[in-house]
Amino acid sequence: MTGKNQTVISEFLLLVLPIQLEQQDLIYVLFLVMYVTTVLGNLVLIILIRLDSHLHTPMYLLLSNLSFSDLCFSSVTMPTFLHNMQRQVPSIPYAACLTQLYFFLLFGDLESFLLVAMAYDRYVAICFPLHYTSIMSPRLCLSLVGLCWVLTTFHAMLHTLLMARVRFCGNNVIPHLFCDLSALLKLACSDTRVNELLIFITGGLLLVMPFLLIILSYARIVSSILKLPSARGIHKAFSTCGSHVSVVSLFYGTIIGVYLCPSNDNSIAKETVMFVMYMVVTPMLNPFIYSLRNRDMKGALGRVFFKKKIPFSV
Ligand SMILES: *[C@@H]1O[C@H](CO)[C@@H](O)[C@H](O)[C@H]1NC(C)=O
Repeated sequence: MTGKNQTVISEFLLLVLPIQLEQQDLIYVLFLVMYVTTVLGNLVLIILIRLDSHLHTPMYLLLSNLSFSDLCFSSVTMPTFLHNMQRQVPSIPYAACLTQLYFFLLFGDLESFLLVAMAYDRYVAICFPLHYTSIMSPRLCLSLVGLCWVLTTFHAMLHTLLMARVRFCGNNVIPHLFCDLSALLKLACSDTRVNELLIFITGGLLLVMPFLLIILSYARIVSSILKLPSARGIHKAFSTCGSHVSVVSLFYGTIIGVYLCPSNDNSIAKETVMFVMYMVVTPMLNPFIYSLRNRDMKGALGRVFFKKKIPFSV
C-alpha cells in the first residue's frame, strides 16, 4: 500500500444534457414518450408472435428475441437517464454503474448476434427455399439463440469482472450519459492495460465479425438472385429481406456514423446523438419496421386483437 490518501469512490457523476432549463420539460416528455413507445411496441410484437401460431416460424421467433433484446437494452439506461434528468446532479452508485455496464454489454451484443442469426435465416430461405424447413429446424433455431446468449453472457461477464478489479479514486465524473466501458477506464487509477487489450480483441471479434457475417450472407443472397433473375425472385427477396436490411442498416449505420465522424469538437453533442440513436431510436423503430411493411404481421394483429378472419399469406 502506498501512503497516499485514497478515497474509495462510491458513486459516479454523469453528464448533464446540455439543454436550457425552459426546454427541460419538453425534452423530458419527448424521451419519456419514446421510451414508452419502445416498451409498448416491442411488447406488442412479442405477444403477437407468441399468440399467433401462424407466426411460429424461425424468422418470427428470432424477431421476437430481437424485440426482447431491444426492450431490455433500452430499459438498461432509459429509466436511470429519465430519473437523472429530473435532478440537479445526475449520479449513479458504483454497484448500479457496474450492473448497467453488464446489461448494456449483454443486450448490445445480443442484438448484433441476433441480427446475424436472422441474416442466416434469410440466406437459407432465399438460397435453399426447398430445404428451408429442414435446415432451419426448431432445434437449430433454439441452438442459435442459445449460442447468442452464451457468447454475450461470457463477453459481458468478462468485462464487468475486469472492471470490478479496477480501482477508482479522485475523479468520479463520467463524461457520458450512462456508464460506458471506455469512459470508466479513463477514470481508473490502477493499471488498465489488460482491460484495454481485451476490449480491443473482443471488440474486434464481436463487432466486426457479426457485421462481416451479415454482409457475407447478403452477398450470397444477391448473387443467388442474380444467377436466376426473375421478377418473382427479386420481389420475394425484397419482401422477405427488406425489413432485416433496414434494421441492420439502422444498427450498424449508427455505430459507423459515431465512430467515423470527427470527435475533436463538441463531443457532448455527439455523445447525445449517439445515446439517442442507440438507446431510443433503434429499439423504438425495430418493431415498426417489421410490422408496418409486413402483411403477416398486420394479419396477425387483426387475428389476435380484433378476432378477424384474415387469410395468411405465404
Ligand atoms: C427466442 O427464440 C427461441 C428459439 O426459436 C424461442 O423458442 C423463444 O420463444 C424465443 N423467445 C422469445 C422471447 O421470443
